[in-house]
Amino acid sequence: MEFRKNFLWGGAVAANQIEGGWNLGSKGLSVADVAQYRPQLDVTDYQRQVGVTTADIQVAIKAQSAKDYPKRRGIDSYHRYQEDIALFAEMGFKTLRFSIAWTRLFPNGDELEPNPAGIKYYQNVIKELKKYQIEPLVTLSHYEMPLHLAVERNGWADRRTIADFVRFAKVCFENFSDVKYWLTFNEIDSVTRHPFTSAGIIPDRTANLIQAEYQALHHQFVASAKVTKLCHQLIPESQVGCMLTKVTTYPATAKPEDVLAAFNKNTLNYFCADVQVKGEYPQLIQQFFKNNQIELTVLPEDLAIIRENTVDFISFSYYMSMLAAADESGMEMTSGNTVLGGKNPYLETTEWGWTVDPVGLRISLLELYDHYQKPLFVVENGLGTHDQLTQDGKVHDDYRIKYFKSHLSEMAKAVAAGVDLLGYTSWGPIDLISASTSQMSKRYGFIYVDQDDNGNGTLNRYRKDSFYWYQKVIATNGQSL
Ligand code: BG6
Repeated sequence: MEFRKNFLWGGAVAANQIEGGWNLGSKGLSVADVAQYRPQLDVTDYQRQVGVTTADIQVAIKAQSAKDYPKRRGIDSYHRYQEDIALFAEMGFKTLRFSIAWTRLFPNGDELEPNPAGIKYYQNVIKELKKYQIEPLVTLSHYEMPLHLAVERNGWADRRTIADFVRFAKVCFENFSDVKYWLTFNEIDSVTRHPFTSAGIIPDRTANLIQAEYQALHHQFVASAKVTKLCHQLIPESQVGCMLTKVTTYPATAKPEDVLAAFNKNTLNYFCADVQVKGEYPQLIQQFFKNNQIELTVLPEDLAIIRENTVDFISFSYYMSMLAAADESGMEMTSGNTVLGGKNPYLETTEWGWTVDPVGLRISLLELYDHYQKPLFVVENGLGTHDQLTQDGKVHDDYRIKYFKSHLSEMAKAVAAGVDLLGYTSWGPIDLISASTSQMSKRYGFIYVDQDDNGNGTLNRYRKDSFYWYQKVIATNGQSL
C-alpha cells in the first residue's frame, strides 16, 4: 500500500467544541451555546426529537455563564490556539480541519457587514497554521449557526437563511483566500437526526417536523451549491467538498427482508451525497418524499444551481457500523453517532456503545469510491473514551493506538485497492467538548487537556502515548502501520 506523496494527514475540530470565548470579540450566541451538558443522553432522544425545547432556549439565553453549557468554554483554544497548533505541528500535521464560527463574523447571522474582530481571529489562526506549512481545511458550518436565526425564523427551514449564509461564505472566501480546501456543511444528512443542532429548527414550534427537515436540507443543498460556485470564482485553486456521516449498515441476517432493510438505510444515507456529487435528487428519494407526504418548495432555479455546482471531493466521518432488520422488535440495539441501530455480535463497542468496526471503514471507502468515482477524504474518525492522566503527566492510551492502527490499516488496504484518497483527519486530535453530550470526559485526543466536565482544571496540555505513535505514522507516510 502507498498513500499519495502529499497525503494530508492531520486532525479535525469544530469551533464550538474547542474555542470557548463564547461572548468575546463581539461574538453572538450560536445553537451550540445553548447546548446543555447531557452525560446521560440516550440516543433515542434524537429519535424522539426532544433535543431542545423553546423553554430550554429561553433559559439558556438568560444564562450569563458557561456553567451548564460547556461548549461556551470549549478548551479555551480562543486564547491558546498558538500552543495547540505548535503541538499539531510537532506531530507533523499536514492539515488541520477546523470550522469558522458564523457568529464570530456575523453575531446574529443577518447583519449586512461582518465583525472585524472575528475576521482577524481566523486570519491569525490561518497565519499560525501556514507558519508550520499546515494546510487549513475549513468547514463553513459545523453545528454552530446563529441562535438568532433559529429563534426568529426556524433556521434553515426558512429560505432567507440561504442568502445570509452565502454572505457569510463570501466574507470567508474574500478574507481567507489562501485556504484551498473547503467543506460546506458538516454531516449535512444529520438535519433529519438533530434538526436544531444542524439546522436551527426548534421541534416544539414546528407543525410538520419531517417536512421542515427536508425543506431545510433542500435549502442547505442550494446554499452549498451557491457557495461552491462562489469559492471557485474567488479562489481559483480551491477544492470544495461535501461532508457526510457515513453510517454503514449491514443486514442482521442473510434473510432477503433484512438485506432489503439494510439497503434502504444505506440508500437513505447516500441520498445527500447523490445530490451534492451528481447534482440531482435520486429517483428513490423522490418516491420516499411522496410516500411520506413531504412536499418541498423548490424554485426552478434551485435545481439548475445544484446541477451546475457539484463538489470536487467527498469527505465523511466514520465511527461505527450498524445492523438493520425487517423486524427490529427483538433485536439488541446500541448507540452510534446520533443513531440507534442493531448491535453486531461480532464486534466490540466503546464505553459509549459505538461499534468498533475497522473493516467497515474499508467497506465505506470502497463503496463510496465505486459509487461516485470522486476523490475521498476521511475527515473524522476516532475513539471517544475516558483517559487517565498519571502523576508524571502521561496518558498510556494503548487502546487508542490499537483503534487507530486497525482503522488506518484498513484504510491503507482501500488505497491499495485503488481508492483515490486525499487525506485523513482524526476527530479531536486534542481533547474537546463532545458534540452529543457536551462532556469533556469523552476524550478523542492525542493531546490530553486538563479539564473536567464541570470546567475545573488547569487546561494544561499533555502528550499521550498515541501522540508519538501518530507522529511516526505521519513521518513515515503510513509505512509504520
Ligand atoms: C461527529 C461530529 O458527528 O461526531 C463531531 O461532526 C462530533 O462534531 C463527533 O464531536 C463525535 O461525536 P461526540 O458526540 O462523541 O462528540
